[in-house]
Amino acid sequence: MIDIWIEKYRPSKLSDIVGQDANIRKIRSFVEHKQLPHLIFAGPAGTGKTTTAIATAMELFGEDWRQNFLELNASNERGIDVIRENVKDFARIRPSNDLGFKIIFLDEADQLTQEAQAALRRTMEIYSSATRFIFSCNYSSQIILPIQSRTVVMRFRPIDYNSMKSRLQQIAKAEQFSLSEDAMEAIYSISEGDLRKALNVLQTISNSGEINAARIYEIAGMANPKDFRLLLSKALSGAFDEAREDLDQMVIDRGLSGIDIIRGLHSSIRKEKVAPKQKLQVIMALGEAEFRLVEGATELIQLDSLLARLASIGNEFN
Ligand SMILES: Nc1ncnc2c1ncn2[C@@H]1O[C@H](COP(=O)(O)OP(=O)(O)OP(=O)(O)O)[C@@H](O)[C@H]1O
Ligand SMILES: [Mg+2]
Repeated sequence: MIDIWIEKYRPSKLSDIVGQDANIRKIRSFVEHKQLPHLIFAGPAGTGKTTTAIATAMELFGEDWRQNFLELNASNERGIDVIRENVKDFARIRPSNDLGFKIIFLDEADQLTQEAQAALRRTMEIYSSATRFIFSCNYSSQIILPIQSRTVVMRFRPIDYNSMKSRLQQIAKAEQFSLSEDAMEAIYSISEGDLRKALNVLQTISNSGEINAARIYEIAGMANPKDFRLLLSKALSGAFDEAREDLDQMVIDRGLSGIDIIRGLHSSIRKEKVAPKQKLQVIMALGEAEFRLVEGATELIQLDSLLARLASIGNEFN
């Protein structure tokens, strides 16, 4: 059996959770005082919400944490009645720890309707002497105010580059391979701050030969920003046929859509150092091409016509 890295490397200690320092500091102080308020963990996927809830239980309850931690998922527990039954059954059994409370972790709490949340709030009230709730959601604004006002809201941010790098380097070391800065940057740009996504990309690539930026983008089905930079400079310098060939390769071999190409060129021109006027013209040309594609014009013709436009813009400034 292959270990899935997102599970194999799920931190079991608060100190292994990266990029959420302010939250971890607060939680650590709760743990030290052996108490816990009700909490809301709000933030995007793969940033450590579930991990932090479990690590908190582990640090509070030690080996007995499983008996003192109930995980429910609001989107697959078939309605608020099932959730309340589960909460009731769990809360009825006395906590098997000397802290006097157990933790109920409710994932995707923002999937519950307002009415369901109101019902949940009453349940929370009834059992709050011996239970603490941790609600996980993408947006805390989707949680009704009566629940918000009884909880401490903690925001989980997309993982920043350095935090992600330190975690991935640690894992690479444990798996005995090395990760270049280029490869790290590629993974980061694909992950968009989601450490689950980053770990999945890293595991896939490590199973199959050399680990470099080009292969990482390929496996993720994304074009390398370098390819766009090259395409742009070929088009602007009037090397139409070569640009055309690169474009075909991206569309036919890698399956990128016309919109993918335009977006890639767009983020590339924004970073490029060219005359401001030229930059503006390129951006306008991209905007027009995008508009036509969205309106349903023929992709191949529009992309060719875009390359021709870029050649004429380049010509004007050379
Ligand atoms: N801050 C972090 N520090 C260390 N590892 C992390 C962190 N965030 C995520 N991970 C890794 O990614 C995996 C998934 O994270 P987790 O389940 O905590 O995400 P989540 O925020 O609960 O996401 P979702 O909103 O999709 O439920 C973890 O098992 C762990 O390996
Ligand atoms: Mg989660």
